[in-house]
Formats: sequence, C-alpha cells, structure tokens
Amino acid sequence: MNAPARSAVGLDVARIRADFPILSEVKVHGKPLVFLDNAASSQMPRQVIDRLVRYQTHEHANIHRGVHYLSETATAAYEAARHTLARFINAREEREVIFTSNCTDGINLVMQGYGRKYIGAGDEIIITHLEHHANIVPWQMLCEEKGAKLRVVPITDSGELMLEEYAKLFNERTKFVSISHVSNALGTVNPVKAMIATAHSHGVPVLVDGAQAAPHLKIDVQDLDCDFYAITGHKMLGPTGIGVLYGRVALLEKMQPYKGGGDMILSVTFEKTTYNVIPHKFEAGTPPIAAAIGLAAAADYMSAVGHEQIAAHEHALLVYATQKLQEIPGVRIIGTAPHKAAVISFYVGDVHPHDVGTLLNDDGVAVRTGHHCAQPVMQRYGVPATARASFAFYNTFEEVDVLAASVAKIQKMFA
Ligand code: ALA
Repeated sequence: MNAPARSAVGLDVARIRADFPILSEVKVHGKPLVFLDNAASSQMPRQVIDRLVRYQTHEHANIHRGVHYLSETATAAYEAARHTLARFINAREEREVIFTSNCTDGINLVMQGYGRKYIGAGDEIIITHLEHHANIVPWQMLCEEKGAKLRVVPITDSGELMLEEYAKLFNERTKFVSISHVSNALGTVNPVKAMIATAHSHGVPVLVDGAQAAPHLKIDVQDLDCDFYAITGHKMLGPTGIGVLYGRVALLEKMQPYKGGGDMILSVTFEKTTYNVIPHKFEAGTPPIAAAIGLAAAADYMSAVGHEQIAAHEHALLVYATQKLQEIPGVRIIGTAPHKAAVISFYVGDVHPHDVGTLLNDDGVAVRTGHHCAQPVMQRYGVPATARASFAFYNTFEEVDVLAASVAKIQKMFA
C-alpha cells in the first residue's frame, strides 16, 4: 500500500511539526526520532512551552492569597485557564472544572469524595474489562473498605464492550459506573453516550475516564450527559502534573473533599472547619498554577488545529499503519474494533514485545512495550505484554513507513 495523498485530510502536518521542537531536535542513534508513544505522553508545542516561560518570567506568585500585583496576575491567569478548560470540554459552568494532578487523581477524588459517602456494603460498581489500572484499583480499594462488589463488562475478541452484558449487570444494588472513553491498550472507542443513558435509566451516576479520548476527540460533557469526566494534561500536549475533573454541580456540592488544607476552607477553628465553595473545596494547597496555565495553552492549540482535522488525520494514519503492519508476515494486531483511536497493539511472531521495542528504538522509533497499566486486558488475550504504537496528529505517513520497515526487519531477523 502506498502512503495516502498528504492533502487528503487537509492538515498541514509539516507546519504543525515545526511547532514541536523535540520532533526535529532529537536524534536516536543518529536517526530522526519517530515518536509513536503518544498514548503514554504526548509532546509539547512551542506555544505551550512559551506560555510556561512567559508565566514564570512575568506572572508567577501564589494565587487566591495576595493583594499585590503578581498574585492578582497569577490568579487571573489560573482562573482564565479554568475558563478555557470549561469551554474545551463544554462544561456548563467554570465551577464544574476542578484542577487535579492527573486523570488518576480525578478518579481517586470521585472515589474518595462520592464513593466513600454513597457506596456501602453489598453495593455494586460497574467498570469494564478495558480499564486502565487507574480506573480499577481505586474502586477495588473502595470495595475492600466498604464490602462493595466490582462488576466487570466483558469484551469481545476484537476488543469491543459487550453491551448486552453491560445492560444485564444493573440491579438495585448498582450504585456507580466508571468507564473509559478510549482504551489505552487497544484503542477501542467505547459508546459511552449510550452507556451513560443506560446507567441513568437506572438512576446510576457515571464517571468517564477520558485520559485517552481528550487528545483525539472533541469532548462535550453536556452532550455525553456524564456525571464526571477525568482528563490529564500530559497526553494532550500539556505539562505533566495537571489534569481536570469535570463534575456536575449538584454532585460536587454533596461530595466530601478528598484533601484538606489551605484554600479549600472558608473558616477554621480547632472545633470546626467549614469548606470553601466548589471548585475550591477540592483544590487544597497551592495548586500546579503554571501547569494549569500551560494546559489551557495546549487546549487552545488543539482547538486552533481543529478536532475534526485531528480526528481525520489520525484516522488516516491508523488505517494506513494497520494495513502496512498487516502486510508483514507474522504480525498480529490485538484490538481490532471497528471504532478505534490511533493506537495499535501488536505482536511480531513470537518475539517478546520488549525485544521489538528495543529493536525499533535502534531505528529511532519510540513505542511503548509492556502491559500498558492494563493487565486484565493482557490476561483477556493471554499475553503478558504487547508493543504499542500510538499516534498523534503531528505524526506522518512517512513515519508509518519507517515503523513498518523496522517491524519487517525484526520479523526477518527472527524468522
Ligand atoms: N497510561 C499511559 C499509557 O497508556 C501511561 O501508556
């Protein structure tokens, strides 16, 4: 198969790549970097880096605390970042946007703040077989503490959720649903809107783990009608150490704060503390101010490129890479759902994925190898690990050619 016409999806990838210094500056074994580990962490455009530098150079002080110029400047920039993120996910109100340290932190906040208050002995929580450990372990911890039970939606051989089985899991003990929008290990895009509607028909609230969706899809929490939605910055061109948890006002107001400390209070005496209003009730201590501002710059960058353009280009990369890899004898792709984000988990014959990753690195190609923090998915397919190529909109068809040529070389080496 030949690489598709570059203009087919109308994205000027060369111009976009010029915004990402690391893509041209780093050489691996003297070869150009082919960065296909975006599901683990994406790269940062100059616009985000510059925003961070501008903040640190001209605007930094602690927020919500000072009457002086810099504190007011930093507070305004931090709250403007909240406004940007609210728009980015189409939240109704800015106070529905809580800055967290990552997606894991957002899920843990809901587990601690909602789960510990409203889920008890004998209650049931529904998750799926596709979840990242971040959307399994917190709920297991809650189940252990409360005597509640985890119910798991099974998946098909292609990596799709069995929706009839999902519907059958609901009963009067079901108290919560927590599901990923996009599988990090297989790339499956789950039909979360329909799944949320099913849960709501039983009066059950839903959290969506959107860590792998926000980099690729337009997120609209009002359209999805979810109760909580968690994302992380470093997978969507932003800094590490920052994420967003969206929550419905009515639920956030009922929830217990997860962390105590400064900024989350209205008044403190040794007898009693009254908590601040949302979202501040959930943002104890000095937050990652710079990272939040950097994340807003990343969200603005993605919006300027355009979600439709991003999705179209990544889909073209996925189709092209899938076909190129499938042409190589012995390559087995794990996760073949019809609706996928640009993630390809694969095996090359019987070669251990770690060897595949090491040999790809010799050609400058970065992929992730291992269980991808999704051991139950690996168990479902009877493998300990996979090699995983995950694409961003700054990747090119030529990079897919480099990946495929390197995989073909590995296949021959071990044949
Ligand atoms: N959750 C990240 C991944 O899938 C680290 O690679």
